Formats: sequence, structure tokens, C-alpha cells
Amino acid sequence: MSRTPDHPIEPLFVDRWSPRSFSGEPIPDAVLHSAFEAARWAPSAYNGQPWRFIVARNGDAAWPLFLGFLTTRNREWAQRASALIAVVSNTLVERRGEIVHNGSHSFDTGAAWANFAHQALLLGWHTHGIGGFDREGARFALAIPEDHAIETIVAIGRQGTLDTLHADFHPQEAPSTRRPLVDFVFEGRFGAPAIPQQRSAA
Ligand SMILES: Cc1cc2nc3c(=O)[nH]c(=O)nc-3n(C[C@H](O)[C@H](O)[C@H](O)COP(=O)(O)O)c2cc1C
Repeated sequence: MSRTPDHPIEPLFVDRWSPRSFSGEPIPDAVLHSAFEAARWAPSAYNGQPWRFIVARNGDAAWPLFLGFLTTRNREWAQRASALIAVVSNTLVERRGEIVHNGSHSFDTGAAWANFAHQALLLGWHTHGIGGFDREGARFALAIPEDHAIETIVAIGRQGTLDTLHADFHPQEAPSTRRPLVDFVFEGRFGAPAIPQQRSAA
């Protein structure tokens, strides 16, 4: 499948993809620290920095807990990740001395996760977002307060060989493509094309 961009960009953006085959090797602190450092510098409304991350490394006491709230299908491959990270956001923010609802807690936390994923890749580690998990189970197990949203779980690891991955997942174990810009960039009003039709299609 082609990951050739239609316009010039840093290779980093097309090189990031989400494998399910992971080696399971231990992840160095330095890698996690650099990836979280990149997340730290994401922009956020009122500089509220709503992102929170809860880490469990493969083999930690908390590891079975994290695997336990994943769907069976996600657990099948995620058990060979080096770490699982719960991405949480604070739904409240201080604005002019008052604590108010933060309408962009998820948006801002998404930006932080993207920084995390790209920095990890620069260091040779792959990430894979996981939306398929028991949210209430995770909230309870990880003691996530009611005023925080649980956004997603992220698996991180070094890409493993295909023979470590259940055959069910083999057909999808390749970088996917994307819709062309004309599908999602508009000018002036919703749906009005801004960019001439590109060659590639999703
Ligand atoms: C919030 C989020 C939730 C996701 N949930 C799952 C999931 O439950 N299981 C899975 O195998 N992949 C999951 N993915 C991976 C996406 O399917 C993948 O990112 C998408 O197909 C684009 O492919 P790429 O990341 O390889 O570019 C999720 C990704 C994100 C960002």
C-alpha cells in the first residue's frame, strides 16, 4: 500500500503507523521520558495541559490489570507490547481564577498523544492506539476521578516479527493509506473544495 504523500512533508508523518506485532522487549526509561517530554509541549486551550498518562510496563504488577480491560481481540496482540499507557484528560480547567469545564480537553490531549507517537517513532518505537476496552472497568481499576475522561489506551513497543502475531491479524499488518486532501479541506464553507483533486485515493 502506498504511503507517498501528495505534498511535501517530513517523512516522520508517513513513517508512523500502528503495527500489532511487538517484540515485548523492555522499554528504556529514556524512551518513555522523551516521548512524554514531546507530549508535554503540545498546545492546549488556556495552556491548560489537560493530558494525563498512566503507564504499565509489560511484567509490572499493573500489567494484568491493563490487559484485563482490553477487548479479547486487542488483548491478543497488545500482550506483546512493551508498555500500555492509559491516556486521560482533565475535563476541568482554571480560567480567570474559576474552575470551568474545558471544552477542548480531548482535542488538546489528542495533540499530546500525536507528539508522543511521533517522538517515540523517532527513537525507533511504534505506538498503537486502542479504543476497544472497557472504559468503566478501566476507570475503576485505575482510580480515575470522575472529572477526568479516559480517552484511549496506547500500546508502545518495538515492531516484532510477523510469526509472533496471530494469523487473524496478518492481512492488516501494513501501513494504511489516507483520503486525499480534497475530501477534508474546504474553503469558505463546509464541503466547498479548496484544493484541486489529488492523484491518490484512500
Ligand atoms: C483513538 C484510537 C483508537 C483505536 N482503537 C483501536 C483498537 O481498538 N484496535 C486496533 O487494533 N486498532 C485501533 N486503533 C488503530 C487505528 O485503527 C489506526 O490508527 C488507523 O487504522 C490508522 O492506521 P495507522 O495508525 O497505522 O496509520 C485506534 C487508533 C486510535 C487513534
